Amino acid sequence: MPHNSLLAALSLAAMVASGTLPADIAPARQAEIIYLLKHDCGSCHGMRLEGGLGPALVADRFADWETNMLAMTILYGRPGTPMPPWRPFLSDGEAHWLATQLKQGVRP
Ligand code: HEC
Repeated sequence: MPHNSLLAALSLAAMVASGTLPADIAPARQAEIIYLLKHDCGSCHGMRLEGGLGPALVADRFADWETNMLAMTILYGRPGTPMPPWRPFLSDGEAHWLATQLKQGVRP
């Protein structure tokens, strides 16, 4: 296996492992993340998350997504598209918590 894909596999495994830990996010931080969802994510995905420059972030769309895949998309973005990585602003646990909220159909 080439070195790079080994590294990618290892970091994927680490993410999956960290994603299985219960995310214990303090209520005040939860409110901040929902604020970020509305104002930052909302600027591209629509204030009601019904779509804009980026696709709608609604529960239907994520029904078949693993929570970890959703958290990874949030953390790392989509290189080559306007979707930025949120890793500077969200921890793994916070991204996982946000992914869980999106799968449950949160509306900021
Ligand atoms: C600067 C604009 C921009 C911002 C800000 C942004 N996104 Fe995105 N996002 C996009 C675009 C554009 C895509 C589609 C990328 C593609 O073509 O695959 C996308 C894709 C996604 C996807 C994959 C959706 C799918 O069905 O494939 C998720 C999940 C997502 N964004 C979540 C978020 C979250 C959560 C935030 C806030 C923390 C956020 N985005 C902020 C532009 C943005």
